[in-house]
Amino acid sequence: MLARNGDTSEIRKDFISDYDELADQWWDPRGALAPLGWIARARADFVPGARHEEARLLDIACGGGLFGPHAVAKGYRAVGVDLSELSLREARRHGYAETVRADATALPFDDATFDAVTAGQCLEHVPDPFAVVAEACRVLRPGGTLVVDTIADTRTARLVSITLAENVPIAGHPPRGTHDHHLFVNRKRLTTAARRHGVELTLLGLRPRLRDMARYAAGRLDAVRLVRTRSTSVLYLGVGTKK
Ligand SMILES: C[S@@+](CC[C@H](N)C(=O)[O-])C[C@H]1O[C@@H](n2cnc3c(N)ncnc32)[C@H](O)[C@@H]1O
Repeated sequence: MLARNGDTSEIRKDFISDYDELADQWWDPRGALAPLGWIARARADFVPGARHEEARLLDIACGGGLFGPHAVAKGYRAVGVDLSELSLREARRHGYAETVRADATALPFDDATFDAVTAGQCLEHVPDPFAVVAEACRVLRPGGTLVVDTIADTRTARLVSITLAENVPIAGHPPRGTHDHHLFVNRKRLTTAARRHGVELTLLGLRPRLRDMARYAAGRLDAVRLVRTRSTSVLYLGVGTKK
């Protein structure tokens, strides 16, 4: 059983080993982790280009490094943190200059050391997502950009992200048990936590382009583009600048 937001007393012990086991699927365009690649591509639109040659981007819970090529293309030296060692090994092969095995709630970096911080599809997997947000804000330089994306704690998100996504047997569907709706992230609490740590987040929703989905399901497309939505009730992204 997984813990609810804010309660660090319990975490599903095999969660990280799940990602170790899936490590060979990170870069498979039709594998169980494929949608994370689509989201990484959408996330990149919200990260500004590096302003100087030494600019560093921290990717919290970087997994197999799907965001690495985007960070590098934007001119950053990418640093990835994750608890899954086999995933970090993949990340190192995809553009990360440095990878560190560490807990997202206790980052081993000094304050204000990164020009940009991303935390994609991670908050909905940790018992205390607001501790991750606090750490993300702490290591971000004033003027730096924070981008987080996660799943809202709504019934619609539960229907779409668990009942449908985990059970409809098309390519790219996540294994059953990937998500626990108790961990889905409350939008108001997320923005409040970021504000408390100096970042005013603007939220927007994302969803797969339906035409791309149909073509992907039919095997005629290798990746699905995401489009922005006004509703943030399922997959949503927050972006903001550190004061
Ligand atoms: C759904 S994957 C997202 C990976 C990557 N951010 C992406 O979007 O492709 C969740 C990742 O969070 C990592 N993770 C879970 N809990 C963590 C923690 N407390 N600290 C660091 N990484 C964690 C897992 O190992 C996994 O790689």
